[in-house]
Amino acid sequence: DMGGHDTYMHKEITEQVDSVDRVLRGRIDDRFSTVHLGGLNLDAREARAVRRVKILGCGTSYHAGLIGAQMIEELARIPADAEPASEFRYRNPVVDPHTLYIAVSQSGETYDALAAVQELKRKGARVLGVVNVVGSAIARETDGGVYVHAGPEVCVVSTKCFTNTVVAFALLALHLGRIRDLSVADGKRIIAGLRKLPEQIAEILRDEEHIAKLAAEYANAKSMMFIGRVRGYPAALEASLKLKEISYIHAEAYPASELKHGPLALIEPAMPTVAIVPDDDLLEKNRAALEEIKARSGRILAVAHREQEKADHTIVVPKNEDELDPILMGIPLQLLAYHTALALGRDIDKPRNLAKSVTVE
Ligand code: F6R
Repeated sequence: DMGGHDTYMHKEITEQVDSVDRVLRGRIDDRFSTVHLGGLNLDAREARAVRRVKILGCGTSYHAGLIGAQMIEELARIPADAEPASEFRYRNPVVDPHTLYIAVSQSGETYDALAAVQELKRKGARVLGVVNVVGSAIARETDGGVYVHAGPEVCVVSTKCFTNTVVAFALLALHLGRIRDLSVADGKRIIAGLRKLPEQIAEILRDEEHIAKLAAEYANAKSMMFIGRVRGYPAALEASLKLKEISYIHAEAYPASELKHGPLALIEPAMPTVAIVPDDDLLEKNRAALEEIKARSGRILAVAHREQEKADHTIVVPKNEDELDPILMGIPLQLLAYHTALALGRDIDKPRNLAKSVTVE
């Protein structure tokens, strides 16, 4: 049932006000400025002994993992990184007993992610899951984890589950942080930020008509460049994937700082850039990248916390705490991909060549 929407994708994008509320519900502990994650199965002593976090997933789940790794580094100060599950599994990785492994999957059935979990388990590693589908294979085979409670996702491309997965990582990062060195004041600050998310998502959704107009304006692009820096980079990767999947427009995602090392050669009017420009300590650096693109007559659509003069257009996103900004930056980009595909008459819920869950190697 699409509940009055023309596609499941649209329904699922607009459901995010409620689905984000669900991943938070019952988990916030104001007394200790932390969160409770019932199924984690990792006590405080074990959490303190973790020396590294390695996150594994595929596609959109990998991108959510990249954001999760940054959150864990920032809030818990544990070195963390993410890698595509299939790459990990084929390179005979060193499995380290002090590393906490986390498998991320909407379906919980993606074969590459499941095989990575099985390989890790066989070698005695501690593996958690950040999974949407309750009782799925990855949920069963991991030692514990966090359910993301996005609800059923029908559209082949992932939207609300991506957002909820990133929020689940924020919860995990806060939890690990408060067991380690994150202060009460910072814990309170992050909790206040988390509580603002549903209303801020509603605010982004109210901007849909504006985003649809911009999508129509850029839908004639041959190819699109997505750039971001640090917190903005995984959002760029995810936005680029979403656009490719449903509009079939070729897209590239680069760290803004890498532009000058090659991809700047691609910039011309037929290749617009979507620039993710949060109001954080990298704002000036990001503005400099916009100038470089303008100097090569590139068109720029900025996704930012305020109007960007250097850009041709800006989608303004509400500001949250710096560490939580990646959660909201993704949502207007889902709408942008959606309306681009709609303008091009694509089969949005069932893009060609793709399946909802990839249970083969
Ligand atoms: C992107 C998309 C895919 C999946 C990937 C992993 O919109 O849907 O990239 O994210 O196949 O699937 P799960 O999360 O079910 O493991």
